[in-house]
Amino acid sequence: MSVQIKPRILLTKTLPLAAQKRIESFDKIELIHWKDGVIPRGELLNLVKGVDGLLCMITDEIDEEVIETAGNQLKVVSTMSVGYDHVSTAALKSRSIPLGYTPGVLTDAVADLAVLLVLAAARRLREGISAVLNGDWITWSPTWLLGSQLTDKTIGIVGFGRIGLGTAKRLKPFLGSNGKIVYAGRTVKKEAEEVDAKKVEFDVLIKEADVVIISCSLTEETRGMFNYEVFKKMKRSVILVNIARGSMINQPDLVHALSENRLGAVALDVTTPEPLSPNDELLKFKNVTVIPHLGSATLETRTAMANIAIDNLLAGIKGEKLPYQVEFN
Ligand code: DGY
Repeated sequence: MSVQIKPRILLTKTLPLAAQKRIESFDKIELIHWKDGVIPRGELLNLVKGVDGLLCMITDEIDEEVIETAGNQLKVVSTMSVGYDHVSTAALKSRSIPLGYTPGVLTDAVADLAVLLVLAAARRLREGISAVLNGDWITWSPTWLLGSQLTDKTIGIVGFGRIGLGTAKRLKPFLGSNGKIVYAGRTVKKEAEEVDAKKVEFDVLIKEADVVIISCSLTEETRGMFNYEVFKKMKRSVILVNIARGSMINQPDLVHALSENRLGAVALDVTTPEPLSPNDELLKFKNVTVIPHLGSATLETRTAMANIAIDNLLAGIKGEKLPYQVEFN
């Protein structure tokens, strides 16, 4: 009687309950499950050896060394994320290993959060909450904690993919008839017409926008593109929101610009590093709001992402085209 060898899968975190139960229910795979927070590099390199499939997260650095260590039998890498800057596409491409990702299902959750951050920054939510908690709420006053509103303002979105468009659709009703939306990116987007958004040069956007929302993929071209020179060109009242990746912003330059009062308010879902130390200089500015990378953090979205990641993984194990496969350039 021949013993059938099951494909081995490494899962680097625990998935939302329904998806976790689903992956555990497959009796045709051998699941290696790292349960305790971020898998340390040494454990990753140890556990990845000999696996057929890897289901990873944005917190795992999947580089040449990891792919090489995994071995020639590796058939698929599936990341439970839409962004895949943590995975070496070069290492996968050179070995013809497909990469699965999870586009589409997190658009609503991330766009909702972008709106939350814009409004939180514009209406000084952090300061308001702190005042209540610290006992600084003395009385209602005509001049206390005045923010700005979005009516008649210009929203500038850098990167007008699904999430950029979703954010624009949600913000449009706040702008009134004289507000406008502009975007910067590589190509003119037909769907921008849905919100009457115009494509402008990046330099024009950063000068004209009252609200700048960073919503593009992190690449070698976009890394650090928001630097001191850019901050200097922005309006002093600008609201800057980052829902993409922390490394889009040169953070020491951001601190420098904030220390010179060059920016109205900043709200970040993503930082460098993550987690950000509670003692980080950035947090000393009361007009800076930071939340811990919560863009896709709804039960519905994370479950959908996990299920797509599982589907991608299973297809890859079988040698089939992944339902959501990254096209390597
Ligand atoms: C992604 O999927 O890339 C997000 O950043 C996770 O929230």
